[in-house]
Amino acid sequence: MEKKKRIAILTGGGDCPGINAVIRAVTKKAILEYGMDVIGIQDGYYGVIHNRYRKLEYDDVSGILTLGGTILGTSKIANPYRYAVKKGDKLEFQDVSKPTIDNIKKLDLNCLVCIGGDGTLNIAHRLFKDGIPIVGIPKTIDNDLRGTDITFGFDSAVYIATEGIDRVHTTAQSHHRVMIVELMGHNAGWIALHAGIAGGGDIILIPEIQYDKEIIAEKVRERNRKGRRFSIVVVAEGAKPKGGDIVIQRIVKESSDPIRLGGIGFVLGAQIEKMTGIESRAVVMGHLQRGGSPTPFDRVLATRLGTKAVDMIENEEFGYMVGVKGVSLVGVSLEDVAKGPRTVPLDDPLIEAARSVGTCFGD
Ligand code: F6P
Repeated sequence: MEKKKRIAILTGGGDCPGINAVIRAVTKKAILEYGMDVIGIQDGYYGVIHNRYRKLEYDDVSGILTLGGTILGTSKIANPYRYAVKKGDKLEFQDVSKPTIDNIKKLDLNCLVCIGGDGTLNIAHRLFKDGIPIVGIPKTIDNDLRGTDITFGFDSAVYIATEGIDRVHTTAQSHHRVMIVELMGHNAGWIALHAGIAGGGDIILIPEIQYDKEIIAEKVRERNRKGRRFSIVVVAEGAKPKGGDIVIQRIVKESSDPIRLGGIGFVLGAQIEKMTGIESRAVVMGHLQRGGSPTPFDRVLATRLGTKAVDMIENEEFGYMVGVKGVSLVGVSLEDVAKGPRTVPLDDPLIEAARSVGTCFGD
């Protein structure tokens, strides 16, 4: 009799809507269609470093399709190739990849399914090169992964962000104010671009287009002169002025990517108020964009990605991530994914469309 295949699922990086939908899809299909055993690794790579895992049965993933977060837990810090260890007041980074790989090998897996963004899939690529059979699934609200048109979580984040922009419109209109909505996205402007267009932002600022604050102030003044006594500014957390720099909220020393962005909305608000004399307020949407139930689009995408990943495991297509290309799902080598983030191209048709309806990008 053929040996039962055994797979493990790991979720790494920031949580986002749709992760549980992917865990459900992978687990259900692996059990129902291929009779595989499924293991859930706890807290991302922390779980393989410290041997924290449990068996996932069909019932464990039943009823989680609509649930936000990840039932497995995650970590934005644990990296077997650069593991932070506290020595007194100091932090030391150790390469614990060899014992980690031994731990994974002891699990006798046919495949480790890594659900994550650039950080998680970068580590997955290294593990693959070190002999672990891996299939990756693209997860991030930021939508900044190479090799895929879209990541799950993005649509939900855009939906929540748009709802936020819609809601500040009333205050902006009633009080004749400038309302600034700061959105996540790391160093990419995808969320701000999409939510900014969907929410009718008058000014959209993204990291890919450096802004000039005088141009922003003039746009606000011009709207005022035309009787539009309010303005909505949608700003990506990673946006920066010409010749200036990003606004850093905190440094997470343990992390391989330590910079946490945030606060540009307040900086801009003060500048716009000073330059135009119009009262301005800033709202930071922050982690609201990562929480709660996935949109129907993300539930469908998560189910497609998760079930396709199981077929790739069955066909032993390791070292690949499931990517979305148009209406199809394709295998994209983890090597390509690991080449760096996918930012908004300056010739993206959405930028052109927004400009053509009068949206200002601060340039
Ligand atoms: O990558 C997802 C993301 O939410 C980014 O948009 C944001 O810059 C970052 O994570 C926030 O990280 P943390 O949850 O550590 O504050």
